[in-house]
Amino acid sequence: MRHLMSPLDFSVEELDRLLDLANDIEKYPEKYAHACAGKILATLFYEPSTRTRLSFESAMLRLGGQVLGFSNAASSSAAKGESVSDTIRMISCYADICAMRHNKEGAPMVASRVSGIPVINAGDGGHQHPTQTLTDLLTIRSLTGHLNHLTIGLCGDLKFGRTVHSLINALVRYDNISFVFISPEELRIPDYIREDVLDAKGVPYEEVERLEDVIGGLDILYMTRVQRERFFNEEDYVRLKDFYILDKKKMKLAGPQLLVLHPLPRVNEISVEVDSDPRAAYFRQVQYGVYVRMALILTLLEVEV
Ligand code: CP
Repeated sequence: MRHLMSPLDFSVEELDRLLDLANDIEKYPEKYAHACAGKILATLFYEPSTRTRLSFESAMLRLGGQVLGFSNAASSSAAKGESVSDTIRMISCYADICAMRHNKEGAPMVASRVSGIPVINAGDGGHQHPTQTLTDLLTIRSLTGHLNHLTIGLCGDLKFGRTVHSLINALVRYDNISFVFISPEELRIPDYIREDVLDAKGVPYEEVERLEDVIGGLDILYMTRVQRERFFNEEDYVRLKDFYILDKKKMKLAGPQLLVLHPLPRVNEISVEVDSDPRAAYFRQVQYGVYVRMALILTLLEVEV
C-alpha cells in the first residue's frame, strides 16, 4: 500500500506516468467515469480548504466513486480529544482512501503509519502540500510542453508557504532549472530548503526583494499569499501582507512566455485586472488540479483502466 506524503514519494518516471494519465483523463473523461465505482474517498480536513477538499471530492465523484468526511476539526471527535491515529483506524473501516489536511506538520505521516488505507497529505502546517505540487507540475508541463529549462520565480511568503517548499523539492529533479526567490527579508525561504535541497543539488538561485527587477527574465511566476494563519503576531502580518501586488504595470515588464501561477486563495497579491491577461494561468491550474487528483486516486488504488 502506498501513501503520498511528499512529491518525492514518486520517482521522476512515476511522476511522468501520473501526469500522462492526468492528460489522458482530460482528453477522454468518459473512459474513467466508472473506474472507482464502489470505492469511497474520505476527506479529513482539520484546517480550512476550498480547492483541495472539493477538488478531491470532485475527482472521486468524476471517477464514479463516493465521498465522506469532515471539513473542520470542531465538527469531528478531534474536538473531544481523539488522536489522528485513532481517527484513521476508524476511517480505514469506512473508506478505501483518504486525503488529510492538518495544521500540525507530520500529522498525515503519523496517520499513514497505522492506516489500513492509502493516506494522501493534503497539506500539513507549513511543511508540504504534495497534491498542489502535482497540480503545479501538470499545469506547467501541459502549458509549456516540458518541465526542464525553466527559470521559476517564487514570490511572496516563501517562509510559511508549504506549496513553495513542495514545488522546489519537486522541480530540482529536472534539468536546467533555476530559481529566483522574491520575498521580503522576514519571509525568505527556510535555511533547510536553501542548504539541504538547493545547495546540496547545486541548483542555481538568487534571492531578491523587488519583483520589478526580475520579472522580465522569468518563464514561470509563482505568486503566493502571505500566510496569516502561521504568523505569530497580527502586526507583522499587516505590515507584510501587501508587500507584493502583481498588476498590469508589472506584467508589462514580463515576456510573452511568462505563465503566472498561484495555488490560491489569493488575497491582494494579484490584482483582478491581471485575470484577463493570457499569461495568467491560475484558474486553468485549478482545473488541472482535478485531473491530477483523479490520476492520483487511480494510481494509489491501483485501478487500471
Ligand atoms: N491551494 C489550496 O490548497 O487551496 P485551499 O486551501 O482552498 O485548499
